[in-house]
Amino acid sequence: MKRTLIKDALAAMPVGTELTVAGWVRTVRNHKGTHPLSFVNLNDGSCLATLQVVAPAALENFVSEVQRLSAGCSVAATGRLVASQGKGQAVELLASRLRVVGWADAETYPVQQKHHTFEFLRAQAHLRPRTNTFGAVTRVRNAISFAIHEFFQQRGFVYVNTPIITASDCEGAGQMFRVSTLDPAKLPRTPEGNVNFAEDFFGRQTYLTVSGQLEGETYACALGNVYTFGPTFRAENSNTPRHLAEFWMIEPEMAFCDLAGDADLAEEFLKHIFTAVLTRCREDMAFFAEHIDKTVIDTLTHIAASPFERLSYTQAIDILTRSGKSWEYPIAWGGDLQTEHERYLTEEVFNKPVILTDYPAQIKPFYMRSNDDGKTVAAMDVLVPKIGEIIGGSQREERLDVLVEKMKNSHLRPEDYWWYLDLRRYGTVEHAGFGLGLERTVQFATGMANIRDVIPYPRTPGSAEF
Ligand code: 4AD
Ligand code: MG
Repeated sequence: MKRTLIKDALAAMPVGTELTVAGWVRTVRNHKGTHPLSFVNLNDGSCLATLQVVAPAALENFVSEVQRLSAGCSVAATGRLVASQGKGQAVELLASRLRVVGWADAETYPVQQKHHTFEFLRAQAHLRPRTNTFGAVTRVRNAISFAIHEFFQQRGFVYVNTPIITASDCEGAGQMFRVSTLDPAKLPRTPEGNVNFAEDFFGRQTYLTVSGQLEGETYACALGNVYTFGPTFRAENSNTPRHLAEFWMIEPEMAFCDLAGDADLAEEFLKHIFTAVLTRCREDMAFFAEHIDKTVIDTLTHIAASPFERLSYTQAIDILTRSGKSWEYPIAWGGDLQTEHERYLTEEVFNKPVILTDYPAQIKPFYMRSNDDGKTVAAMDVLVPKIGEIIGGSQREERLDVLVEKMKNSHLRPEDYWWYLDLRRYGTVEHAGFGLGLERTVQFATGMANIRDVIPYPRTPGSAEF
């Protein structure tokens, strides 16, 4: 069977073309009377739209099969494209053959063509890609991933794959998932009575990575400009619409680059991604604007066209203090910004993305470069409306003595990071990078309210079904 994608049939093919399409039935209407006909709406995932297949009574299996079709059945239809009589589509397929590939029980099929809540569909995560919303999310996520590789490849960045199993805690937050093959019922013990991880698979304690940055830095300090694009894991107990325990992160790292250059790349990068979505996902974006968030296309268009706001953390604290707002989390220099503060800055003060720089050292990880004021580090967060932080990055500490001191202050043992420190011993250079959360990017681009609905199988506290 040579199959034509419904996207291609609808976009480019003239009336009269003979072709075969295959997909899953969305709806069926059976016309009774003297000239019985069935109208079968078919979706194959190649686009949002369905192709209407008109099945005439002359089909040999018309009574035995076609009239018994229901939502969820898979079919292959061969016929000719004809001008559509009905509203809503230019062409339809007049079938000369309609083969039922797989039946779906109409009584039990969970994703009927009616409104389902996103909560309900999360429990049907294996079938939700057959709905309009999740088909569209999946195609936009794909377009974003492609645009990300395209952006870096066009600029000569080298894609590197950093390890998923690691012994180091990049963010220093201790929110890591342990990787172990020890039998919890029979843990080996040291003479002191502690668990003896020397007997574990890797001969030491290991975890799922929270970030590929440290290893990414080693490759940047050899190949110049690199990026990673892979899964990362955080065992933080945050049940919010913006946190996942397993999410995908893109981490560029650039040698001979400072914080300003890092911020320039971040801004160009986000603009490239959103422009790609606007031009390549028109049908899906129109769907999101109509059904999910009516501002979403205007927002992306505005962001792609206007410069981001740049200011320091200290300036932001000043604005927040003078806002006259009553905050749930009080403002004080030295404290982390909460989503309410980030949203106020992006939505009410500037109405565009904001790059905040030079955060207090005490709320940022050890690897960020110390500023001369002794209080702040060369950090940057990119904040966007509705989501808050979408990118976190920094210039890295390239001075060996300063870095060792910072590690000790963070209760990290420098000898555990000997290889990371070697970069500062042998040909150290100023370098900088950042991490973009893929799911927050998809969320922002589509207007989807909950991060659990922009990844196929969300992993969150208490939930790892599928
Ligand atoms: O700010 P984060 O923790 O930065 C790092 O991990 C650095 N090592 C990145 C670097 O400089 N190479 O995370 C970066 C981004 C956040 O801005 C956010 O978009 C996303 O990753 N992120 C999450 N997304 C979903 N669920 C979570 N639990 C996330 N934690 C971070
Ligand atoms: Mg961060």
